[in-house]
Amino acid sequence: MSNTVNWGIMATGKIAHTFAKAVNFSDGAKLYACASRSAEKATEFGKLYGAEKSYSSYEELAADPDIDIVYVASPMSCHYENVKLCFEHGKNVLCEKSITMDSAQFEELIAIAKRKDLFFMEAMWMKCLPSFLKAKEWFADGKIGEIKAVRADFSNPVEYDPTDRLFRADLGGGALLDLGVYPLTLITAFLGYEPKQVLSDVNVDHGVDMDEAVILKYENAYASMVAGFDIENDNRAVIVGTEGRIAFDPWYFCTDTVRLYNKNGKLAEESITPHLCNGYEYEIMEAQRCLAESRKESVLNPLSDTLQVMKIMDRIRAEGGFPV
Ligand SMILES: NC(=O)c1ccc[n+]([C@@H]2O[C@H](COP(=O)([O-])OP(=O)(O)OC[C@H]3O[C@@H](n4cnc5c(N)ncnc54)[C@H](OP(=O)(O)O)[C@@H]3O)[C@@H](O)[C@H]2O)c1
Repeated sequence: MSNTVNWGIMATGKIAHTFAKAVNFSDGAKLYACASRSAEKATEFGKLYGAEKSYSSYEELAADPDIDIVYVASPMSCHYENVKLCFEHGKNVLCEKSITMDSAQFEELIAIAKRKDLFFMEAMWMKCLPSFLKAKEWFADGKIGEIKAVRADFSNPVEYDPTDRLFRADLGGGALLDLGVYPLTLITAFLGYEPKQVLSDVNVDHGVDMDEAVILKYENAYASMVAGFDIENDNRAVIVGTEGRIAFDPWYFCTDTVRLYNKNGKLAEESITPHLCNGYEYEIMEAQRCLAESRKESVLNPLSDTLQVMKIMDRIRAEGGFPV
């Protein structure tokens, strides 16, 4: 592989545009190809971001021998088939969240990636951001002591549209897989992957989970989260320990700012690292670092972490009366 990483973007929806901008910004990255189910969309997307190749099928993209890694940006229910297609053609994959519909699908994909010795990572960009990494560092350095509570929410109102993937159960719609995956990823990254108990309540409408509240009980701590399409939340995350707390600025999953407070509530440290582009450059850098070092999974977001989050989401969906 040359020093430049040739990216292929599979699907040309909303997030693919954001990601394409970050690829074009990132050192050592080239937006080499894109693919859409529609030739017109592929050509338009390719022109907009200067891709060398624009394919009118995902199969053609997966088969292109000059692509080093495919970014999968289709709806959740398509990830399993799309990622498998990439693996069949020997392609490394960075796949959008939630990585699959459930942990069983994900375990199958992990097995294929391992068998074929391919790089595989969920595009959980939050875990690659400097703000998240600073919070991990403060915790590891003992600055907040033992964690007793974590709160993280992600709700914002979305107008009902029956064609939107968010409201289509057949495309993996619903708030848990779309939004809840962020607070759960944050909570588990700090409190661990084995909550003693997972309690949840869910509101179902239009055939999908419109919102849910979840409590995770640990041996000596608890965490809470709400996620949903119905209210304007402040979308903060706070990690409370015996010696202090870490508070992210609102929209913790994309913020550049995180603060450390001592146990008297006084600001002890503040970390602000403005995004270089739109924040997605950090997961691109992480994937490229892994490829350069021939690593098959990310240190910042290992497959085992993603799998445990998927398993917790399975539990929530099994216990909470979820429709999908
Ligand atoms: N990391 C983040 O910040 C972030 C933000 C938003 C979304 N996401 C994730 O990214 C993925 C895509 O989200 P999005 O908001 O970009 O969705 P979107 O705007 O609906 O785009 C999804 C794209 O997937 C393709 N697709 C393939 N099969 C499809 C089908 N059966 N029905 C509809 N579209 C299909 C389409 O592209 P073509 O027509 O070109 O084939 C479509 O434009 C989801 O997994 C979502 O959770 C991540």
